[in-house]
Amino acid sequence: MTFLPSSAIQELNEGSVMTHTLDRTARIRSAWQAAWDQGRVEALDELLSPGYVRRRGPAAAPQDREQFKNSVRAIREAFPDLHTEIEEIVEDGEGLAIRWRSTGSHTGDFLGVPPTGRPVEVSGATFTHFDGGVIAEEWVTWDPRQLLEALGIITTTQEAAVDADLVRGVHRKFITGVTVVTTDDGGTPRGLAVNAFSSISLDPPMVLVCVQRSSTTHPALHRATHLGINILAAGQLDVAKVFASKSDDKFAGLSWTAGTHGAPLIDGSCAQLEVEIGERLEAGSHTVFTGRVVAARHEDLAPLVYSGGGFFDISNTAPLPW
Ligand SMILES: Cc1cc2nc3c(=O)[nH]c(=O)nc-3n(C[C@H](O)[C@H](O)[C@H](O)COP(=O)(O)O)c2cc1C
Repeated sequence: MTFLPSSAIQELNEGSVMTHTLDRTARIRSAWQAAWDQGRVEALDELLSPGYVRRRGPAAAPQDREQFKNSVRAIREAFPDLHTEIEEIVEDGEGLAIRWRSTGSHTGDFLGVPPTGRPVEVSGATFTHFDGGVIAEEWVTWDPRQLLEALGIITTTQEAAVDADLVRGVHRKFITGVTVVTTDDGGTPRGLAVNAFSSISLDPPMVLVCVQRSSTTHPALHRATHLGINILAAGQLDVAKVFASKSDDKFAGLSWTAGTHGAPLIDGSCAQLEVEIGERLEAGSHTVFTGRVVAARHEDLAPLVYSGGGFFDISNTAPLPW
């Protein structure tokens, strides 16, 4: 029997830890290169356990091994020249943190965005947990705004501003109706006059409204799950004035009923929608609230029209031949 000095035992132990570490990092690098850069996703089977779970934050459903492999395939279809660089791997016991950066050209459909041909760069970190020599669980975190900007869906760079009066003059040429956007704020009805209302689609039925962040109704719209859109009738000019004001109780003396989901619906409006709020998109000084129409009705009443800063009743105008 040979007795080794304790320093030699330590060296041996460190050596085996080192081999183990190299083993894991080398296996990750090789499987990532095969899957992400060459599309050989089956290489992930040797690295990921059969019960593997990939977590992508609270908003996205976790993926199992097959779902992850399918998502790699889909990403590679959209970015066939995809290249993923592992920039750093830090190991801590059974845990391993990987800092990565991916580049590729957007030449295939991706998340409903048609090919733009743009070069895209995305970086993030993946936290990996080993169990019995294979990865049992991963948490991946990255900034989707980087991707959205690269695809041209959002722009954060500011171009030289056009004169505000000029833009105002342009908007005065556009004729709109007038709506009152309402919501139930924990039992208190709130609302404001809004002409920045538009249909997004009929199937599914989706609409949007733009509300300035300085509006006192704005915080309530962030708390709410539903909003009401009341398209005012020509006879409701007084209602438009009240809801364009900063009055404390705009609903005092007003006849209204709560819709199925609580949003105040103003009697006498020519049309009403109840909308389940979907996304709240920050856009400059305003928030764009998009949502799905969950209830709708309209009356045989002429709408109130807003044009060039004035209000009009167009019920007696003659339609143009079309
Ligand atoms: C015809 C008309 C259209 C308007 N459209 C909008 C709009 O689209 N979005 C918006 O945030 N404010 C719009 N406003 C201004 C608001 O109604 C106004 O600032 C109101 O005082 C806000 O009320 P609040 O602060 O109590 O919510 C409009 C006003 C008028 C008269």
